[in-house]
Amino acid sequence: MPRSIEIVPSVLPADFSRLGEECIALEKAGVDRIQWDVMDGVFVPNLTFGPDVIAACRPHVDVTFEAHLMVANPDELLHTYVEAGCQMIIVHVETTPHLHRTLGAIRELGCRPAAALNPATPLNAVEHVLDLLDMVLVMTVNPGFGGQAYIQSMEPKVRALRQMITTSGHDVDIEVDGGISSSTISGASAAGANVLVSGSALYKYEQGLKFGVQSLRQLALEAQVD
Ligand code: DX5
Repeated sequence: MPRSIEIVPSVLPADFSRLGEECIALEKAGVDRIQWDVMDGVFVPNLTFGPDVIAACRPHVDVTFEAHLMVANPDELLHTYVEAGCQMIIVHVETTPHLHRTLGAIRELGCRPAAALNPATPLNAVEHVLDLLDMVLVMTVNPGFGGQAYIQSMEPKVRALRQMITTSGHDVDIEVDGGISSSTISGASAAGANVLVSGSALYKYEQGLKFGVQSLRQLALEAQVD
């Protein structure tokens, strides 16, 4: 049974002077959740949203918020992003020396835990915590900026992760993030990713966000294998 396809916008390309309205537009466009790319300028060379920005947008929509914590010290920030209104928190394995404990802490906060892997990080970093995870994010760019080129060599990594999860018997989604567009989403979906983050490509659709979400979803569905 194929897993449900979820189309998740990154708000990096959105108009930061109107983020509440941008979230409303994304919800109306039919996105399955919204990803907040939280960057601290230390783990990645860029600085973005604090929890107050997310909290300000929370009341405007009902759609799930996920916080992608591209930060050096996620353990100290978990509760603040849960309090801001995020239902999922994605931590990078490269920043969590006690990942098993961190994932448990996210769950204890009533939030869904996910782990992200940078392109060079091997899958075995999550092999022994699949029972604690709702999702694994395989980065298809080096984190820090939107609009980068998709790293196609991550597809075998996604395929191997899907196999690892299937063998484990655990119910874990695979998300990809970075360079996801009409020309790359099929490869990522065929490899086994079912949660697809798109920022710049989604916002570039001349026909608008709703058309873009529907088009990307259709491409991912058509490419999915059992
Ligand atoms: C990388 C960011 C981007 C963003 C999506 O740190 O996480 O991957 O979400 O960017 P696009 O879709 O523009 O590549």
